[in-house]
Amino acid sequence: MNLKDNTYIVTGGSSGLGKAMAVSLKNEGAKVVITGRDQSKLDTVASEIGVQGFHADVNNDADIEALYGWVKDNFGKLDGLINNAGIGDWAELDQMSREKMKNVFETNVFGATMMASHAARIFKDQKYGDIVNIASTASLKGYKMGSIYAASKFALRGLSQCWQAELRPYNVRVIQINPSEVPTAFAKVDRVEKPLEDNKLTPKEIADTMVAALKMDRRGFIPEVSVFATNPF
Ligand SMILES: NC(=O)c1ccc[n+]([C@@H]2O[C@H](COP(=O)([O-])OP(=O)(O)OC[C@H]3O[C@@H](n4cnc5c(N)ncnc54)[C@H](OP(=O)(O)O)[C@@H]3O)[C@@H](O)[C@H]2O)c1
Repeated sequence: MNLKDNTYIVTGGSSGLGKAMAVSLKNEGAKVVITGRDQSKLDTVASEIGVQGFHADVNNDADIEALYGWVKDNFGKLDGLINNAGIGDWAELDQMSREKMKNVFETNVFGATMMASHAARIFKDQKYGDIVNIASTASLKGYKMGSIYAASKFALRGLSQCWQAELRPYNVRVIQINPSEVPTAFAKVDRVEKPLEDNKLTPKEIADTMVAALKMDRRGFIPEVSVFATNPF
């Protein structure tokens, strides 16, 4: 499938995996809108990579409403949502706090769901569309201190499967990508990107995976794909 002139929203497109996916979609000839929380970083990255930036926090329903309205007014259509914005927090069970858990679920689960809910209305109506959920290999297996982050990505995996069941009859593909570790600004308080490491993945492998999944003819779809570094040790 040709992605040229398709329109995509990439949440959290101002950094890391989202930025790389936005660049790849643009290189395919698509029109791309990236979102993020930090307005000045968003503006800088949008102009650097040549896409549109729209300041929208996925935790804020008014922001989501405004984003979809803006996309409709400026592009007139939406072909895909890349549900990428995500945060992490880690704690052992006996150090758990309700606030830490709510904070991560707010973005990774509730925010992703509300973004997808708006997209689903558009996609059901037009009888096509793609939703790509960027989960994690943490959605596949729990680990020590993973109660907050892994549980949020397990929840996203459950949502992907529910949305697949609901939306397949409408020619809507829901694709979950599970990256393993990629050095980015992820979970960094200073939000500065980490340097790439020779034996770890880079954002490009995730962007390549997403583009390959989207380019498949619409008769088929990849429900879930995991991407690991060959030898990260
Ligand atoms: N890096 C990894 O090792 C890894 C592995 C597996 C899965 N993932 C997943 O991949 C996704 C992207 O991670 P990354 O490594 O690229 O992290 P990143 O560099 O920290 O980028 C996260 C992006 O999401 C945005 N964001 C965060 N909260 C948001 C919100 N509430 N509303 C809108 N935008 C928000 C950030 O914007 P601001 O900077 O303005 O806050 C930033 O653009 C996440 O879902 C993460 O869980 C990452």
